[in-house]
Amino acid sequence: MKKTEMMYEGKAKKVWATDDPQFVIVDYKDDATAFNGEKKGTIAGKGKVNNVMSDLMFTMLEKEGVPTHFVEKLSDRQTLCRKVEIVPLEVIIRNVSAGSMAKRLSIDEGIVFPRPIQELCWKDDEKGDPLLNDDHALALGLSTASELEEIHRMAGEVNRIMQVFFDDLGITLVDFKLEFGRGADGQLLLADEISPDTCRFWDKETGKKLDKDRFRRDLGDVEEAYSEMLSRVSHAG
Ligand code: TMP
Repeated sequence: MKKTEMMYEGKAKKVWATDDPQFVIVDYKDDATAFNGEKKGTIAGKGKVNNVMSDLMFTMLEKEGVPTHFVEKLSDRQTLCRKVEIVPLEVIIRNVSAGSMAKRLSIDEGIVFPRPIQELCWKDDEKGDPLLNDDHALALGLSTASELEEIHRMAGEVNRIMQVFFDDLGITLVDFKLEFGRGADGQLLLADEISPDTCRFWDKETGKKLDKDRFRRDLGDVEEAYSEMLSRVSHAG
């Protein structure tokens, strides 16, 4: 499969069309942004970590019965994926309080919830990805009722699988963000990436943050945290 033209360039990835309209090539960059692009930087080696780790995660999830857009890894930074129409929702799953939710509700970080919380954000950079609920998503035509039901079911399933997977690696899966796409036949596929950019990972022993919060909050050891995560995921199983 050959790259043809660049279809889209986001903050962390480029998406290329290929000579087969069913497939795209996702190309991961080292560029990092936070706070909707207000903070900009580079994390050396991030593109490789996020690409390789996402591919390992999608492969693991496929084995567990979750349909994803992943087809095959092409190189350290590039992956062949099924072309999808992205549902314009960011689905956030939270097991432990942190980040924007802790701030919004003025609660401490680190509270373990008795059951996971799912949040939706409208995937729209110009609006700053605002939080919304199912009724908003339906009223705005961002998704259908049956699709939303399936999205919540799949997100719950992915969380159950990933919590066990990371627990075995000595990591607490604090929260993460998923995106879903509609495939050629309308089937919902898990899309985008699963990486330290899109998850919060805390070491179970030391509590050390092993994710993008090290960049967002200027905690240092950013590259080390990304490679530590890739190393642990690569040695799983
Ligand atoms: P938040 O606490 O800032 O809302 O983030 C929740 C989770 O979603 C966290 O694991 C990081 C991830 N996330 C993204 O993947 N993309 C984003 O643009 C934001 C704001 C968060």
